[in-house]
Amino acid sequence: MRILAIADVEEKVLWGSFNRRRFEGIDLILAAGDLDSDYLEFLVTMLNRPLLYVHGNHDDKFRKSAPGGCICLDDSVYVYQGIRIAGLAGSRKYRDGKYMYTEREMARQIRRIDPQIRLLGGLDILLTHAPERGVGDLEDLPHQGFECFDEFVKRWHPRYHIHGHVHANYIPDFKRERVLASGTHVINAYGYTTIDVPPASQLSYGWKESWVNRRCLKKSDGLTAQEAGVLGAGHTYFG
Ligand SMILES: [Fe+2]
Repeated sequence: MRILAIADVEEKVLWGSFNRRRFEGIDLILAAGDLDSDYLEFLVTMLNRPLLYVHGNHDDKFRKSAPGGCICLDDSVYVYQGIRIAGLAGSRKYRDGKYMYTEREMARQIRRIDPQIRLLGGLDILLTHAPERGVGDLEDLPHQGFECFDEFVKRWHPRYHIHGHVHANYIPDFKRERVLASGTHVINAYGYTTIDVPPASQLSYGWKESWVNRRCLKKSDGLTAQEAGVLGAGHTYFG
């Protein structure tokens, strides 16, 4: 499965001078936060593939206009073609804001999704806005990662941890990808990148994707078409 991962800035090649042919073969779009609603709606329409997103620290505006046809993955788990994806929104709290959390608050969010992951027998992709502390983050509070992600990643060993928030131009030696000792590939999706994910094995205990995804779809906006497509036909999007 080929994933288009995006975060933080709207890229010209995906927006003003979009060329569909360049992005042929994309199966799923993962947005790691701080992107405009219009941009997400444009991509979900042009690529006609499911788009899962988590909120970034600058996404308070989504409260007024959530991106239509996109699936909010905050504190949820979603399964697409057998790939189990969990999402955690926001950054470290450096002022008041809806999508800013203390370590303690983020640890609470993790406790909320842990049982869902346990039921599915594990996790393949973790999608967050902020990075893990010490893994491609910075020293100033707004750009520090979360320490609690370390334990979470060690517990579930996701194959990928995709995040945003730390812009390439903040660091002289920006690294797109890192591999942790546990084997998890940590990918900073700033701008955009593509990831080829190996096919998934069966879900544990015979869970149906449509059942697992119901909670996530319910809280997303403008999903009438998706509910018909994703819930009805399993993997199909917009019929
Ligand atoms: Fe951010």
